[in-house]
Amino acid sequence: METDLESILITQDQIAHRLDELARQMVADLPVEDGQPAELALIPIMTGALVFTADLIRRIPTMLRLYTVAIASYGGATTPGQAKMNRGLTSLPKDLTGRHVVLVDDILDSGQTISMAQDHVRALNPASLKTCVLLRKPTDAARNVPAEYVGFDIPDRFVVGYGLDLAGYYRNLPMIAVPRPEVIHRHTGDQAARL
Ligand code: IMP
Ligand code: MG
Repeated sequence: METDLESILITQDQIAHRLDELARQMVADLPVEDGQPAELALIPIMTGALVFTADLIRRIPTMLRLYTVAIASYGGATTPGQAKMNRGLTSLPKDLTGRHVVLVDDILDSGQTISMAQDHVRALNPASLKTCVLLRKPTDAARNVPAEYVGFDIPDRFVVGYGLDLAGYYRNLPMIAVPRPEVIHRHTGDQAARL
């Protein structure tokens, strides 16, 4: 699998260090209720945010509950497509009144996925709603979507690893890497395998 990679953009150590900072900042931003940080409702967007969220929550030492939202983008293998919510794989309470919510995703690219999730969660009336992404691409669209916590701003390259996939593969790489052009080419158009 590693021979499919052109370069490593972000190492495991860099990710671990940045996650420590993000978790600290997230806890520091929580309002204090009865002398303690308020409870957090963390909502990863499946499937890309799975690895990131698993590592992030183990750095948060306060009370939190985890829900999930599943949104898939049905585009080409490397281009954004139409975002669609999978309600069967979405587990949210009926309302989030009084709750402090952080949405978590792997990457902010066109912003379609996160905007859809933000709209959906906002309709459940949370006390606060923030967004955390591991990566953000330098597109105008990405900058127009509010994200309070951004792990890394990256160049406009297609990346894989640490939850991010190419046609469903490479999510298990422990770092963020750029696949070789011929590997991208081989998988492009392989839409059925994306899920
Ligand atoms: P957006 O809706 O265009 O912001 O894209 C978000 C989704 O597209 C992410 O959750 C990823 O699944 C996918 N995506 C965007 N850019 C990349 C990339 O460079 N590598 C892998 N997946 C990506
Ligand atoms: Mg995804």
